[in-house]
Amino acid sequence: MHHFHYRNGRLHCEDVSLDDIADAVGTPVYVYSSATFRRHARVIGEAFEGMDCLIAYSVKANGNLGVLKTLAAEGCGADVVSGGELKRARAAGIPASKIVFSGVGKTREEIRLGLGEGIHQFNIESAAELSVLAEEAQALGRTAYVAVRVNPDVAAGGHPNISTGKAGDKFGVPWDDAEKAYDQIAATAGVEAVGVDVHIGSQIDQIAPMRAAFERVVSLIKRLREKGHSISRVDVGGGLGIPYRDTDSPPPPAEYANMIRDVTEGLGLQVILEPGRVIAGNAGVMVTEALYIKPAPERTFLIVDAGMNDLMRPALYQAHHEFMPLRERGASDETTTYDVVGPICESTDKFAAERTMPVMEQGDRIAIMSAGAYGAALSSQYNARPLVAEVLVNGDKFSVVRRRPSFDEMIALETTPDWLS
Ligand code: LLP
Repeated sequence: MHHFHYRNGRLHCEDVSLDDIADAVGTPVYVYSSATFRRHARVIGEAFEGMDCLIAYSVKANGNLGVLKTLAAEGCGADVVSGGELKRARAAGIPASKIVFSGVGKTREEIRLGLGEGIHQFNIESAAELSVLAEEAQALGRTAYVAVRVNPDVAAGGHPNISTGKAGDKFGVPWDDAEKAYDQIAATAGVEAVGVDVHIGSQIDQIAPMRAAFERVVSLIKRLREKGHSISRVDVGGGLGIPYRDTDSPPPPAEYANMIRDVTEGLGLQVILEPGRVIAGNAGVMVTEALYIKPAPERTFLIVDAGMNDLMRPALYQAHHEFMPLRERGASDETTTYDVVGPICESTDKFAAERTMPVMEQGDRIAIMSAGAYGAALSSQYNARPLVAEVLVNGDKFSVVRRRPSFDEMIALETTPDWLS
């Protein structure tokens, strides 16, 4: 469910015409719907009603401050994977008591930052990281609350590049070493085991692999408790998929929640969720304008002003994104087939191949749908292109929540050495 709809023949985000935003801000531009963010957070909250549950929104999906503040107001916490994300979450007013710190390669500096803030939990991924965390906690006279991220050796995820729970993946402590890690925590000052953490992948469209992983985790929690470790939390990671096409039917949050309720029944655990895409994905679009239409011998190219640097997902994962023209077309309007490509000097700079869509003219605009998660967050300045502006809509209001940098600002970050001046 999202709030991008046609009204009076124009595509709107909530009550604002996307053309009005594009006219005011330029293209390409990311546009986010506050109502959709709020709705997604609420639907998940309601699905877990009655359970002790922390929704730690995965900041990596979309870390814009306006987005984080919107979610903070809904009571969400944050799952962060870097010092930068931790700073952002705090700047958005998310309390440290609702922040979990994930990631396979936290630096000492980042660990110190988390300890200084007194965050809810560190999800550690190796014995070596645990030692560094303990050293830093001892030095600061603090206790770090720890969950070990385990690798349950379960395959899942919409694409091999976003599957993280198989034995060969870099993520998590190998299954057979998990208990040892808890023994190490028990024997070490400065760290206290509070939970078990797992995250098996992203854009998962089946309940079964998640259930398999969580059942393994619960069996581990029972063994750990028998050995005297007081485990009070389970962090089930993120990963719930979203519909990128009408034909996609990922499990609804209620079904996911019921499975978790079932698997954790009677254990008195706090359930920590790290949803990213399911909250942000369909809450954002990227609006882009047709620059040129280029007929070629085998296909026709629709060259738009957004590039793979602005939205990496198609180039990285062959991801499918729907397009909606800003000007509504009728069922009888002529369609044709385009390769929709950007201006970047790479052949992978392609948003779609042989896509059937309405006939386009120079200057026509389209919204690239489902771009709220891993869109702006993954973008780069390749080809010296300024990062795309981001706009947050709320009802009939919109606000530029991240403006495009100017060329001068981009250049100003660099210095030339003396010998060149
Ligand atoms: N927790 C951990 C430890 C993660 O690594 C991730 C995502 C999440 C939570 C949030 O997962 P989500 O609910 O969004 O599936 N760039 C890729 C997705 C990479 C996901 C990385 N980790 C894409 O655009 O599809």
